[in-house]
Amino acid sequence: MRLSVLMDFNPRVNVVARVCRKLYGGDPAHGWPHILRVMAWAERIVNSEGLDVDPEVLVVSVLLHDIGRLYEGSDHHAIRGSEVASIILEVLGYDSRFRGEVSKAILAHSYSLGYKAESVEAMVLSDADKLDALGAIGIARVFHTGALMGRGFEDSLEHFKAKILRLKDLMYFSYSRRVAEVLTARIIEYLRWWGEELG
Ligand SMILES: [Fe+2]
Ligand SMILES: [Fe+2]
Repeated sequence: MRLSVLMDFNPRVNVVARVCRKLYGGDPAHGWPHILRVMAWAERIVNSEGLDVDPEVLVVSVLLHDIGRLYEGSDHHAIRGSEVASIILEVLGYDSRFRGEVSKAILAHSYSLGYKAESVEAMVLSDADKLDALGAIGIARVFHTGALMGRGFEDSLEHFKAKILRLKDLMYFSYSRRVAEVLTARIIEYLRWWGEELG
């Protein structure tokens, strides 16, 4: 199944994709490039596991999962995102069942919020988003985001231990678990180099 094809050939999904592309911008860690990588991981998970998903729910959930990051607020970006997504989807004529499915998937994608995924689409989004935090790309994202936040190298290294190295234990599917093991091993090797170079 080519999920990303929906972005081109389903008119409503195409509108969501074009709105998202504009809103997210080009930030490589959390912007449109991240959304496209999560989409590619979601596609690989669905195909490797042979999952029966609602492709439109999954693609729209991937597209909108970090939309809450674009709006200021004291609440969690996943909570804000589920509300913003629902408003966007209502304007586009999506019914309440569809909006509810997407909102639940967005709420469940967050590591820090800790909500359990209740649908297969929510599970795929959660795994796909976490896989993009691992491996070589995960390393680049940590240092890129750290620089934007004014965080030093030491704090970024701490972030690997506090969050990134734990993500592999939160995967729902065996394909994701297998890939996460490989990508986590790359980070561990990188951290070993760091220690070696510092002596
Ligand atoms: Fe997120
Ligand atoms: Fe994300």
